[in-house]
Amino acid sequence: MSFVRFLGTGSYAPDRVMTNLELERLVETSDEWIQTRTGIRERRIAEPEVATSDIAYKASLNALESSGVDARDLDGIIVGTVTPDYLFPSTACILQSRLGAKKAFAFDLLAGCSGFLYALQAGKGIIGCGDAQNLLIIGAETLSKITDFQDRSTCILFGDGAGAAVISASETPGILSTCLGANGDEWELLYMPGGGSRIPPSEESIKNRDHFLKMKGKEVFKEAVKALESSSLEAIRRADITPGEIDLFIPHQANYRILEAVRKRVGLPEEKVFSNLDRYGNTSSASVPLALDEAVRSGRVKEGDTILISVFGAGFTWGAAVVRW
Ligand code: ACO
Repeated sequence: MSFVRFLGTGSYAPDRVMTNLELERLVETSDEWIQTRTGIRERRIAEPEVATSDIAYKASLNALESSGVDARDLDGIIVGTVTPDYLFPSTACILQSRLGAKKAFAFDLLAGCSGFLYALQAGKGIIGCGDAQNLLIIGAETLSKITDFQDRSTCILFGDGAGAAVISASETPGILSTCLGANGDEWELLYMPGGGSRIPPSEESIKNRDHFLKMKGKEVFKEAVKALESSSLEAIRRADITPGEIDLFIPHQANYRILEAVRKRVGLPEEKVFSNLDRYGNTSSASVPLALDEAVRSGRVKEGDTILISVFGAGFTWGAAVVRW
C-alpha cells in the first residue's frame, strides 16, 4: 500500500451574498435569532443559470493550480454532492470534460454532507492499492436549488459553494487515518422526498413542495454532535496520536453550537477550531473542503501540521480523518 497525501486545495463560492436581513424579508425570522441559534451571518447563493459543476469547475482549477498537477495527469475525479447537475450523467463526468482530464475515471458519490470525506476515503483506497497516482476529490453544492425559502427552519441554514483537493501517492504519510460511519435507520430526519424513483416529478409533487429539502433540526442536532464526537475520537485513535497533538480542527460547518459541543467533547481549545460558518452557512459536502482551503490559504495550516477533519450528514452518514500537512 502506498501513502496518500494532499498536494493542493481550491475553493469557490458564488459572488451573490444573501444576508440574514434579506431572509427577514422572506420568512418570519430575525438576524438576531439566526446568529444566536446558528452563528450564521450570511451565505452565498448561485445565480439561476449556475449549476453545481460550474462552481466545482472553478474550485477544481484552483486546486489543480495549487497542487501543480495538470488536469491531463489526473487518474480520477470523485464528486461528493447532493445537488448534482442532473441525476445522470454524473457531475464528475461533466467536470472531466470541462477540465480536459482525458484519462480520468469519474463518478459522483452520494453521502449527504459527508460526501467529501467519503470521497477522500474512496480516493485513499484507490491510490493506496496502486490503481491511481493523482485524484481530484470535490465537495460541491448549489443547495439553494433545493432549499425551501418558505420554510424558516431550514432556509436560514444553507448556502452554495465548492471545495476541491488533489490527493496523490506519496512516499511519506499524509492521510494518517480515516473512519466512516452510517445509520440508515434515521434517514427521514433529513431528506428530499421528490425527484427520485419514489416520488418522480409530477404536478402533485411540485404542489406538495416535495423537491425541497426537509429536516427535523433538533433531532439532527443531537445526532450530529454524537457522531462528530465519536468519529473524531476514533480517527485520533487510529492515527495513534492524542487530541493535544491536533494543530487545527476543521469540523463540518453546520451550526456553531454543534461545533462548540464537539470541540469540548473532543477536548480541544477554542483557538484550534477553524470556522467560516458565519460567511457561508452550511454548504453540505462543500463545507469542509471550502474551510480547509481557506485555512490553508490564510496560513492557518502550515507544512507539518496535524489536522482533524470531521463531517456529518443525511443518511445519516459521518466520518473523520487525521491529516499530516
Ligand atoms: N427564526 C425564528 N424562529 C425560528 C426559526 C427561525 N428561522 N426556525 C425555527 N424557529 C422557532 C421554532 O418554530 C420554535 O418555536 P416554538 O418554540 O414556538 O415552537 C423555536 O424557534 C425553537 O425551534 P427549535 O427547532 O427548537 O430551535 P433550535 O434551537 O433547535 O435551532 C436549528 C434550530 C438551528 C435548525 C438547530 O436545530 C440546528 O442547527 N440543527 C442542526 C441542523 C443541521 O446542522 N443540519 C445539518 C447537518 S447535516 C447537513 O449538514 C445537511
